[in-house]
Amino acid sequence: MSYNVAIDGPAGAGKSTIAKAVAGKLEMVYVDTGAMYRAMALYMLREQVPPQDTEKVIEKCRYADITISYEDGIQVVLLNGENVNDFLRTEEVGHIASVISPIPEVRKKLVELQKELASGTDCIMDGRDIGTCVLPNAQLKIYLTASSRVRARRRYDELAAKGEAGDLQTIQADIEERDYRDMHREVSPLKRAEDAVLVDTSDMSIDEVIAVISEMCRRSRKA
Ligand code: DC
Repeated sequence: MSYNVAIDGPAGAGKSTIAKAVAGKLEMVYVDTGAMYRAMALYMLREQVPPQDTEKVIEKCRYADITISYEDGIQVVLLNGENVNDFLRTEEVGHIASVISPIPEVRKKLVELQKELASGTDCIMDGRDIGTCVLPNAQLKIYLTASSRVRARRRYDELAAKGEAGDLQTIQADIEERDYRDMHREVSPLKRAEDAVLVDTSDMSIDEVIAVISEMCRRSRKA
């Protein structure tokens, strides 16, 4: 049986940075499910489907073939055969992903792919509904969070490092709006699974979080 770790939490809590680093240390595969929703969003953007037009999104999502492969341990998202990794991390794509991810038809398609990936490999998967819906039997579940202020500051610093100007207040407002949408949607809302360990990273450095979570994984894997 494969060993699975589920990490859920709001945008900007550090899930992908942490999950990637821990997976590398423990020689496990890292599965970034947000990237799959982003690939679907990119498809809608390219096809000029307005994300609010749910009927159109449902009709079109049948034609988006999203798969994952790994090159040198890095997850590559293929959208109809094209490597789209470089186009996924924009604010626009993130916003569209957040609007279309509540649609059950979109989720069903991506959740099937996620379950299939996890059943065949030891992996750390991050997202919003991994512990509650995708991998309810994961051997370890973590709910990673931080205050919206701290998350906005991290995002601001990230943009600044890339030379992109951002406005801290706007970023925080956007994060809070996204949290609200993710937590209040009807299908698979973001919430802590009952058996998930809560880790609040507001006052922790990345290295501290990586050390704490690596230790939790080692222990649970041994057990
Ligand atoms: O983690 P992220 O910012 O890359 O995710 C993009 C969007 O996809 C986000 O609004 C929430 C959604 N998402 C989801 O609904 N379920 C997941 N398992 C992962 C992401």
